[in-house]
Amino acid sequence: MAPLPSIFVFFLVLFTSSNLFAPSHTLLLQSEPSDEAFTSVLISQNGLDFLKDVLVTKAISSMIPLILPRIEKSVKIPFVGNIEMVLSNVTIYEIGAPTSYIRPGDTGVTIITSETTCNLSMNWYYSYSTWLFPVDVTDKGRASVQVHGMEVGLTIALENNGGILKLSLLECGCHVHDISINLDGGASWLYQGMIDAFEDQISSAVENAITKKLQEGMVKLNSIIQDLPKEIPVDDNASVNVTFVDDPLLTNSSIGFGINGLFITRENVPPVRYSTWGFQLPVFCQDPAKMLGISLDEAVFKSAAGLYFDTEYMQWIVDKVPDQSLLNTAGWRFIIPQLYKKYPNHDMDMNITLSAPPDIRISEDNIGATVYADLVIDVLEEEDVIPVACISLVIRGSGSVKIVQNNLAGSVKLNDFSMSLKWSNIGTLRLYLIQPVIWTAIQTVLLPYANSHLAKGFPLPIIHGFTLQNAEIILTASRITVCSDVSYADEENLRYPYP
Ligand SMILES: *[C@@H]1O[C@H](CO)[C@@H](O)[C@H](O)[C@H]1NC(C)=O
Ligand SMILES: *[C@@H]1O[C@H](CO)[C@@H](O)[C@H](O)[C@H]1NC(C)=O
Ligand SMILES: *[C@@H]1O[C@H](CO)[C@@H](O)[C@H](O)[C@H]1NC(C)=O
Ligand SMILES: *[C@@H]1O[C@H](CO)[C@@H](O)[C@H](O)[C@H]1NC(C)=O
Ligand SMILES: *[C@@H]1O[C@H](CO)[C@@H](O)[C@H](O)[C@H]1NC(C)=O
Ligand SMILES: *[C@@H]1O[C@H](CO)[C@@H](O)[C@H](O)[C@H]1NC(C)=O
Repeated sequence: MAPLPSIFVFFLVLFTSSNLFAPSHTLLLQSEPSDEAFTSVLISQNGLDFLKDVLVTKAISSMIPLILPRIEKSVKIPFVGNIEMVLSNVTIYEIGAPTSYIRPGDTGVTIITSETTCNLSMNWYYSYSTWLFPVDVTDKGRASVQVHGMEVGLTIALENNGGILKLSLLECGCHVHDISINLDGGASWLYQGMIDAFEDQISSAVENAITKKLQEGMVKLNSIIQDLPKEIPVDDNASVNVTFVDDPLLTNSSIGFGINGLFITRENVPPVRYSTWGFQLPVFCQDPAKMLGISLDEAVFKSAAGLYFDTEYMQWIVDKVPDQSLLNTAGWRFIIPQLYKKYPNHDMDMNITLSAPPDIRISEDNIGATVYADLVIDVLEEEDVIPVACISLVIRGSGSVKIVQNNLAGSVKLNDFSMSLKWSNIGTLRLYLIQPVIWTAIQTVLLPYANSHLAKGFPLPIIHGFTLQNAEIILTASRITVCSDVSYADEENLRYPYP
């Protein structure tokens, strides 16, 4: 039985993952700016309602069947006398919660279910002896009990405890309004005696059992939360730092979270610092009914670019182009006569190396990427590779992003590029003449490489089991915001909270 805690995990985790900033949050978030939260997540009232439904459903399915302690009582029945009555195998086998709601408040998040019903089954037996019957008389049977109008409520406080979300149960209660008891078998006197004697005891047994289950669930939940990873792996080399920054921000209709959000190397090499970015608000979802919004600062993308620049040796050798004659000095005979003179009929290649981390700029209407690279022209002589010239490239592209499952993926296309000669052993080059071959190298090597990485994208902080639905992406100055609904597929593998 993994259920109760897992419910709450969703709860939590969902928190980890969403963020849309409605106007009412603006003030709050601005009053507590953090320069370390580059991803912010907000769960709207619709998102909280969805979460609550998942939570309540999971809580119920994890509770039942719920076996209550046996109940014994000595009952005085008119005209019969004292009897010893025992209820055993008292089992709650069905709980219905038609009405429930969730409200964030000053102290925490409150979830209440009302008009809750519970169906119980049990065995009963009694024994008694009187002066009339000197021997023990016993009888036994089954009984069913319906609990009506029960209210269950709990209030959970959320806080950031060293980068991990911590939940504590502030209040937890269960109150039974009304119960009805039906006996299978037994005499009518027994029936009335049973109701009189056991109504209160069954009610409080139900209340205690459910309260205890909720408390146990919270304890388990918290231990699961302690195990939640602080990083979501992206690939072999990179992960996203999902450490919580600052306490969650609760308004009366939403919960907001700050997450570090930057890319880090999986070996925990300290990343580049991005201390100049902070919360930039507000970001609006065009559709306020969306369950959640996740807002990613430009710094997230810069950190990804910086990380891949640092950890992977970004170098490509181009030795095939559609017009292969361009990779022989003979092809350049008239364009770069010195080259042909020095190395007649030699094969060539181009060695492209990134010279600085790509720069990424997000604006209302565009995601711009600027890539800085050095392109070395090599002449191949026997075993030797002879660099003959180096051209600095500044390549400008524009990107688009989309949601692929729970990943933010994208693609980039070339806008233009500029060249400058860094050094040359073959005299001055007329760069415009070699522009077409460089254009080819960028189109056939650099862009496909970048797009193969971008096509997979990187995971947004969404807990396993939840999937983004009907997501829309909004660009604002230096931010990308994903506004989305979520669906939930009940899966057992909640132990692996991230995809
Ligand atoms: C206890 O209750 C369950 C479900 O109500 C029932 O399946 C089971 O047979 C009962 N056990 C005994 C010993 O009566
Ligand atoms: C459980 O109780 C409710 C009313 O409290 C009733 O409508 C429902 O049919 C009962 N379910 C079963 C399986 O007895
Ligand atoms: C939430 O608070 C705002 C003001 O802070 C108020 O106008 C609004 O009615 C409140 N909403 C609910 C559902 O209580
Ligand atoms: C992850 O983010 C937290 C909060 O900003 C920060 O304190 C921590 O150093 C980061 N971890 C790494 C490995 O960069
Ligand atoms: C991880 O980095 C190594 C070199 O540092 C590289 O060979 C490998 O392809 C990288 N893996 C991924 C998935 O990018
Ligand atoms: C490519 O150029 C870089 C420097 O620009 C150099 O370090 C590297 O060795 C060259 N690679 C080859 C295969 O020539």
